[in-house]
Amino acid sequence: MRETIRRLLKERNAILLAHNYQPPEIQDVADLCGDSLELSIKASQTDADVIVFCGVHFMAETAFILSPEKIVLLPNPNAGCPMADMVNPEALKKRLAELPPMPVVTYVNSPAAVKALSTVCCTSANVVRVAESMDADEMLMVPDRNLAQYAASKTDKKIHLWEGYCPFHDRLTPEDIRRARAAHPDAVFMAHPECRPEALGLADVVASTSGMIRYASESPEKSFIVGTEVGLLYPLKKANPDKEFFPASEQMLCTDMKKITLGDIVRSLEQMTGEVRVPEEIRKPALKAVERMIQMK
Ligand code: 13P
Ligand code: SF4
Repeated sequence: MRETIRRLLKERNAILLAHNYQPPEIQDVADLCGDSLELSIKASQTDADVIVFCGVHFMAETAFILSPEKIVLLPNPNAGCPMADMVNPEALKKRLAELPPMPVVTYVNSPAAVKALSTVCCTSANVVRVAESMDADEMLMVPDRNLAQYAASKTDKKIHLWEGYCPFHDRLTPEDIRRARAAHPDAVFMAHPECRPEALGLADVVASTSGMIRYASESPEKSFIVGTEVGLLYPLKKANPDKEFFPASEQMLCTDMKKITLGDIVRSLEQMTGEVRVPEEIRKPALKAVERMIQMK
């Protein structure tokens, strides 16, 4: 199926982007694997006619926001993000009416209509930089309360929280970490900022998914406990075959990130199904927030 996919990509002048949590066979056939920030930047720069996005819905939406002249395909339309579903424009407007005027910093893991109401977007790779760049002492950060608390711990800004979270990162407990450390006493513990503050407090390194791959590659250390979705173990091992990686918890498995299959990609490319679009009245204001983030780098 790999050859079929590569042939169809060529015929359609298409590029295949895959998130670092995607199944191994999808990462292996992709043109580029990366974290949310890297994939957004690539989506804004490619000259392909079609972007096949192997990730979840908000990622394909962001690609379309940046490249509306392209066809963006999400090979399985059911691949969503439960955290992104924890915020919507009506609830955000209601909350904003209760607060004094302040910027809204929105994690890319959110619906386009929420990005459209935001000052700027951020990802796990740049959240601290984005918060610091705001010309205000206070801001509202949506939807991830754990990411927001992490950013607050790294800046002097006052960050108002939203009650959203990733169900898979939020379930990592200090007890899981103690168990993993006991089993691998020499390992470095890396954690994703979507984990709870009590888990991040025990981490040696806090980074985005690609940040973890870079850290492990550059570090002289030989073994690592990985506090993020278990799909990251594959690219970590691929980039560092001489090093060892252990999941902080086997329970950190995002079912939505595993929904796309090679068969879905073939079907989507053959029949041009799974197209993701955003209405222009939402795309334009959302683009401002996403572009402001990308220009910041
Ligand atoms: P990254 O941007 O770090 O790759 O994370 C995306 C994500 O969905 C984490 O749950
Ligand atoms: Fe959403 Fe969490 Fe899955 Fe990332 S790992 S896509 S935040 S549910």
